[in-house]
Amino acid sequence: MNEHLYQFKYKTLKLSELNEQDKTLVFSAMKSREQAYAPYSSFWVGAALLLSNGVVITGNNQENAAYPSGLCAERTALFYAKANYPQEKILKIAICGDDAKTPQGEITTPCGNCRQALLEYECTQDSPIVVLCASTQGNILEIGSIKDLLPFCFELLYKETD
Ligand code: THU
Repeated sequence: MNEHLYQFKYKTLKLSELNEQDKTLVFSAMKSREQAYAPYSSFWVGAALLLSNGVVITGNNQENAAYPSGLCAERTALFYAKANYPQEKILKIAICGDDAKTPQGEITTPCGNCRQALLEYECTQDSPIVVLCASTQGNILEIGSIKDLLPFCFELLYKETD
């Protein structure tokens, strides 16, 4: 029997400590959160993606009376980005989530489905996607790669070089 230890580095910081580009990305996620359609959960989430051409794509959670038909903020932004800018790499994603009525200022990290969807593009583009999770009150959790959020991840990928 062998025992192993899995560890990864992440940063916790304040919004004011981010560089201007990251700050702008987080503000975009916060702004997009305000347009979420979440009447069932009242949990509003915004996401903003920075693409390699400098374009920022935003998205928010869109719920539905038939619950599974809704979509998280991250995938709303992600699929729009890849549908419209398929050649661009995704450099970063900022995420901001909190209760709409009584915000607690908690940091929201991507759900498992969103991690898997992000992983697919991180692997195909062969460079990390940085994750910036922000609370509505400006506390930041920075993770350097989606792979850090999915240990022993499942990859089954089409690569153009294959
Ligand atoms: N949600 C997101 O948009 N992103 C996440 O990473 C976590 C959850 C949404 C889904 C649902 O509309 C609401 O938050 C409550 O789960």
